[in-house]
Amino acid sequence: MKQFQKTSELQSYLKSSGKSIGFVPTMGALHEGHLALIEASRSACDLTVCSIFVNPTQFNDPTDFDKYPVTLEADLEKLQEAGCDVVFYPSVSEMYPNGTADLKSYDLGFLETILEGKYRPGHFQGVCVVVDLLLQAVQPTKLYMGEKDYQQIAVVQKMLELTNSSVELVRCPTVRSAEGLALSSRNARLSEEQKVQALAIYKGFNLPSESAFKQSLLDNGFESIDYVACVDPQTLQEKPYGEKPCLILVAAFIGGVRLIDNKTLS
Ligand code: PAF
Repeated sequence: MKQFQKTSELQSYLKSSGKSIGFVPTMGALHEGHLALIEASRSACDLTVCSIFVNPTQFNDPTDFDKYPVTLEADLEKLQEAGCDVVFYPSVSEMYPNGTADLKSYDLGFLETILEGKYRPGHFQGVCVVVDLLLQAVQPTKLYMGEKDYQQIAVVQKMLELTNSSVELVRCPTVRSAEGLALSSRNARLSEEQKVQALAIYKGFNLPSESAFKQSLLDNGFESIDYVACVDPQTLQEKPYGEKPCLILVAAFIGGVRLIDNKTLS
């Protein structure tokens, strides 16, 4: 597995390859969900590139950024085992040589005012900035992202349209533990007891109302809830709770850790 920290070196290596490139952007602390994206890329593309970069511009809460798990050595081992061809792990100054004060902005429309956009102001601008920069560096054929971050996929699709990109965005299903907890790098900050309590999210998707779902989360150790929402899976416009087909999305805090998840009901 080739490893690069400098964009220029990554680019000169990839330019000469002449191969189809699948790209998996990550913030590290890799788990089976990320490895499923690597696998999907490997099965469709000649070369798989993974980036590891904890992007400061997408954290609206500086404490969340400081506490984000960093496990580079273990991540590199997992990527090697998974058959990833190239890993790119730039520094903050490599990604943002002119600082982070004056960055490009994207007209994301209502996507930026709902759900994650509402509760994490600026978050999606930061995601678009970094994914746009990474795509310029990697120039992939296909981009692989997981449906756990459902709204992020819609935002990145919008960014690809705004930038007239020809990259194909491939969405991959959420990977869960055997009991149903959506895999997330943030789970590393949960105790074993909290991981069991957090299953209330998965069980809650079957409850008939938003209020029943919220009550169940609170009864199972969640200390606060940003939202439980029901939307159209295509447009993300709100619709009556549980009216199929629909997408139920949730964001809630347990042990100070913010978890998100979603499930399509069809
Ligand atoms: O989903 C993530 O891990 C991040 O938002 C991404 C897409 C790697 C951008 O930093």
